[in-house]
Amino acid sequence: MSIYGLTKGTELEKMVSGAAQAEANGTMVYYALARLAREQGFVDVAEQFIEIANQEAVHAGFYAVLNGQYPQDFWEFAASMQKAEANAEGHIGEIAAKVRALGEAKGCQAECEEAAREIEVFAAQEKNHGVILDGLLKKYHPQA
Ligand SMILES: [Fe+2]
Ligand SMILES: [Fe+2]
Repeated sequence: MSIYGLTKGTELEKMVSGAAQAEANGTMVYYALARLAREQGFVDVAEQFIEIANQEAVHAGFYAVLNGQYPQDFWEFAASMQKAEANAEGHIGEIAAKVRALGEAKGCQAECEEAAREIEVFAAQEKNHGVILDGLLKKYHPQA
């Protein structure tokens, strides 16, 4: 049994698509607020915002499936995501370098360095997303 595409091509499609976008945006909003709360010492507030954000992320994925937004037979799509993730490391690394360089121009050396280092961690995580996907593809969809 699957909920895949139940609302696709129906009068509900637009509403569900709006809900998916709103939920994805909510994920971003609550993680941003969690970041700010943590910076300001509100550790418990940050934890609650993260819990909300994780649920919003689940909601976004649910509505996307309801609308059949991605292929139900997802392996080829996952293979294209694998390539994007593998390439992301370089792009994200560029952002980190530019944020670091901003430290000189803007006089925010310590903060810009901290931000750059964190973005470098993200770059490594993107690379790891690619590695994880690669392993899953080799295991379950070796023809991709
Ligand atoms: Fe939600
Ligand atoms: Fe990623």
